[in-house]
Amino acid sequence: MTKIDFVTLFPGMFASVVAEGLLARARGKGLLETGFVNPRDFSPDKRRKVDERPYGGGAGMVMTPEPLYAAIKSAAKRGSRVVYLSPQGRPFNEKVARRLAKVRQLVLVCGHYEGIDERVMGLFNEEISIGDYVLSGGELAAMVVADAVTRWLPGMLKKEGAVEAESFSLTAGQRPLLEYPQYTRPKLWRSKKVPEVLLSGNHGKVAEWRLRAATLSTKRKRPDLLKTVRSH
Ligand code: ADE
Repeated sequence: MTKIDFVTLFPGMFASVVAEGLLARARGKGLLETGFVNPRDFSPDKRRKVDERPYGGGAGMVMTPEPLYAAIKSAAKRGSRVVYLSPQGRPFNEKVARRLAKVRQLVLVCGHYEGIDERVMGLFNEEISIGDYVLSGGELAAMVVADAVTRWLPGMLKKEGAVEAESFSLTAGQRPLLEYPQYTRPKLWRSKKVPEVLLSGNHGKVAEWRLRAATLSTKRKRPDLLKTVRSH
């Protein structure tokens, strides 16, 4: 059982993500537990204030250190990995997702406003960005990370896919290639046919075709992936 705790000023944003789809399935299987801690509940201020103007001046507001500190301390148990979502973090990718899927507790900390007080940075084990753009807060990034990590929780992956991926190194995360094209019923749809080889029942031929199609698709859509050094 893995636990993902979200430290967020906006827990309501997560409602549908934990109630439907992959995360709901993982929770239903008993593979994932989710929790929420709101820094506002730890504000020493009687109006529950969690932000202030920056020292030194400048636009926007900064999250004050104490509510964030207390919220993280209350969420994080022994053996947890505390991750701060920020555009300044290391780029998130499938390799990071697989690594995080191995930890017992993941605490995803969502920032807001113009940022957080630098003095809480020492609480984080790592800082992660989901891409080179600026979101209004860390919540959407935390949901992206939670989804990608949950796919890799032991017991979540479909057996068939895992075996297939192993033989061709097409597993997301370690694969050098994009996924091959998929087809399903009907065989003929609006005058478009399913490639004959996929109907042949010849597993060797199917595998060969898929590898070729995946390579072609990668060349066309993401040539940069073929240039990266394979680390396996
Ligand atoms: N918070 C705001 N922008 C972000 C990004 N690109 N990645 C992660 N967290 C963020």
